[in-house]
Amino acid sequence: MDMIRFEHVTKSFGENCILDDFCLQVQEGEFLTVIGKSGCGKTTMLKLINGLLTPESGQIIVEGKDLAETGLVELRRRIGYVIQNGGIFPHMTVEKNITYVPVISGRKNRAENHRLALRLLGTVGLEEEMAGRYPSELSGGQQQRVGIARALAAEPRILLMDEPFGALDEITRQTMQDEILRLQKELKLTIVFITHDIREAMKLGDRMLVMEQGKVRQMDTPEHIRQNPADEFVRKLMKGALDADYK
Ligand SMILES: Nc1ncnc2c1ncn2[C@@H]1O[C@H](COP(=O)(O)OP(=O)(O)OP(=O)(O)O)[C@@H](O)[C@H]1O
Ligand SMILES: [Mg+2]
Repeated sequence: MDMIRFEHVTKSFGENCILDDFCLQVQEGEFLTVIGKSGCGKTTMLKLINGLLTPESGQIIVEGKDLAETGLVELRRRIGYVIQNGGIFPHMTVEKNITYVPVISGRKNRAENHRLALRLLGTVGLEEEMAGRYPSELSGGQQQRVGIARALAAEPRILLMDEPFGALDEITRQTMQDEILRLQKELKLTIVFITHDIREAMKLGDRMLVMEQGKVRQMDTPEHIRQNPADEFVRKLMKGALDADYK
């Protein structure tokens, strides 16, 4: 089943057409990585999936339902959203951050929420004693894990990740990459993951989407794209990975 589908979607800001006749299919349980130059429309595409933005024309279908007919609250419960630095609230403890979505959705039982927070800390590999800390008392990698725990709190089936590991050092980044692959398999998540790092895109993606100026330039398995780049743009992009130690 297609978990996410774009059918001839157009999105503009004023005069600027950002996505133009954009079509996309993401299958259930798939890990799709998205790569493309700054400003090509990656974040815009992601925000259309969780209803932060709406298209001018075309349809976006998530789990078989047209977004135009889906309530935002329902959508937020089904879709987790993770951005760079976790996007966590600085004035809230780790526990409050993690249980934010369940609480605003009406889940008020404190003991239950506490248990949920502790369980999710374990899921993302953090110590339980971190529940009472504030984000400023955590490292960048730990904050990023809290961001992922928060996105998982509503038990979504879809995770949208916008350059989530961009600010991390190489070692932490690799640990987080392995962690997210593990979580994806364990929770059977469908993930759309934006990155500027071609090696990250190839390592994580079942398929890779290469975007250029609001269009799908190529979408295929990393291996196939590496062997058959659609054009010069993709060839150049892949060259970085070929020059590196990707096997
Ligand atoms: N709310 C907005 N109002 C007007 N223009 C916008 C808005 N959001 C994005 N844009 C423009 O849309 C284009 C695509 O932006 P988008 O954030 O999708 O790019 P991106 O591919 O995510 O880039 P980056 O890799 O730098 O994050 C850019 O030219 C941007 O300036
Ligand atoms: Mg972006």
